[in-house]
Amino acid sequence: MFDALLIGLFAYICGSIPFAWLIGKWIGGIDIRTVGSGNVGATNIGRTMGARWGICVLVLDALKGLLPVLLLPPLFTDADAPDFVHLKVIAAVAAILGHMCPVWLGFKGGKGVATALGVVLVLSPYASLGALVAFGIVFAWKRIVSIASIFAVLAFGITHFCVIGKEAFSSVYWSLSLFAIAAPLLIIWRHRSNIVRLIRGEEKAFVSGKIDPK
Ligand code: G3P
Repeated sequence: MFDALLIGLFAYICGSIPFAWLIGKWIGGIDIRTVGSGNVGATNIGRTMGARWGICVLVLDALKGLLPVLLLPPLFTDADAPDFVHLKVIAAVAAILGHMCPVWLGFKGGKGVATALGVVLVLSPYASLGALVAFGIVFAWKRIVSIASIFAVLAFGITHFCVIGKEAFSSVYWSLSLFAIAAPLLIIWRHRSNIVRLIRGEEKAFVSGKIDPK
């Protein structure tokens, strides 16, 4: 129990580093919360400062999810221990919540897509491949990041259950399967303003770099 709390705390702190806000401030001289969609995320940085800064935030936001899930659980237990997957899931959830609700920004953070990508690359490589393929196809078709993100998280959940099959709710994998249901729902809920714009036909296709970095 104490292990789980420590892992959750460290992963939350890691996930709460607001790279989009920091790069917006330090490089662009902007508060990312006041420009574009207002979202503290890679897409909004790419939209306002240019694709290369968007990719930079995407990589950093993914790493702050990937590293805690990869590095923290082995500090507390063996990889073949019965609770190993559960501890990885706790790190994953905490890192995503850290990104979505960072204490440093009054608990108002991003939508969690890049950080979720980082965590699922460790948690479930096959399911993350499903998510990446879905993102690539939908983005190539629509050029809208939000709808590609929504399809990607749905594909993650579906691929997880296809890959894991009857083991889905075994004592080893039940927490991962719960994550594969809850994380996509949470991320879709965080996209509710995008969904309203999509329904109204007001969500714009991605155009990079309207505001030059200073
Ligand atoms: O990852 C967030 C993305 O799916 C949408 O971002 O800035 O278009 O709301 P944004």
